[in-house]
Amino acid sequence: MTHNLMLRAQKSEVRDYFENINHKDYLEKHNREFYRVIYSELLESRNIHNKLGKREQVILDLGAGSCEFVFLLLDKYPEENHKIIAIDFSENMLRKASPELHCNYSNHDSLVADMVRCPLKEECSDIIFCINSIPYIADLDSMLKEINRLARPKGYLAVVFPNNRRIWTRKFENIRVFDNRDLHGAAFRNNFNALEERVITFNLNESVKSMVIPIAKFMLFQVEK
Ligand SMILES: C[S@@+](CC[C@H](N)C(=O)[O-])C[C@H]1O[C@@H](n2cnc3c(N)ncnc32)[C@H](O)[C@@H]1O
Repeated sequence: MTHNLMLRAQKSEVRDYFENINHKDYLEKHNREFYRVIYSELLESRNIHNKLGKREQVILDLGAGSCEFVFLLLDKYPEENHKIIAIDFSENMLRKASPELHCNYSNHDSLVADMVRCPLKEECSDIIFCINSIPYIADLDSMLKEINRLARPKGYLAVVFPNNRRIWTRKFENIRVFDNRDLHGAAFRNNFNALEERVITFNLNESVKSMVIPIAKFMLFQVEK
């Protein structure tokens, strides 16, 4: 009981933060270059490209925020047979992107919903992205169970999270702090197989190529049933 109450308090704290965020500040604060590097690593993953290159695909972006990654996916895979659904529990975040997305792309939908309980049918998705959204989820196992429910057999889950634990503890008192071992454990318990794992690095200074810092962890799983 106490546990549930604690989780609920934490979730509302996170939602309030994103509901009240000013987008201009958000974009400045959340280094765009940081996200640009992350997005291009995801799009360059051969496994992801092979998956997305095939027949009809239903793609979910859980915790999509203002849909910047969704825009990139739509540009790269504009075919009508790819359906891309952005899900976020902050209407404020989705609203930032929605008018432009709805005007320009018919193969896109967005949904205001809690990603731990998505109002979508089971086995509806071929590939699910969670970009810097899973660390906000207090119960990793519930999240992965829900992803397993949403994914088709042999579907993919691509997760990215910053590998600097301090980023998460600065903003929220109760934020879940995990590392790749926690994610591996929860993935194993919920029938996911690890396919790919790497550290995403960032060039601090273009002229001094050796000055790179690790900024995030990318993990790709395949869903077993
Ligand atoms: C750091 S932002 C990342 C946004 C986006 N993935 C990107 O690449 O810019 C985290 C997002 O996760 C969303 N989020 C956190 N917990 C959520 C939950 N339980 N259900 C749905 N969205 C959630 C927040 O509202 C926020 O938009």
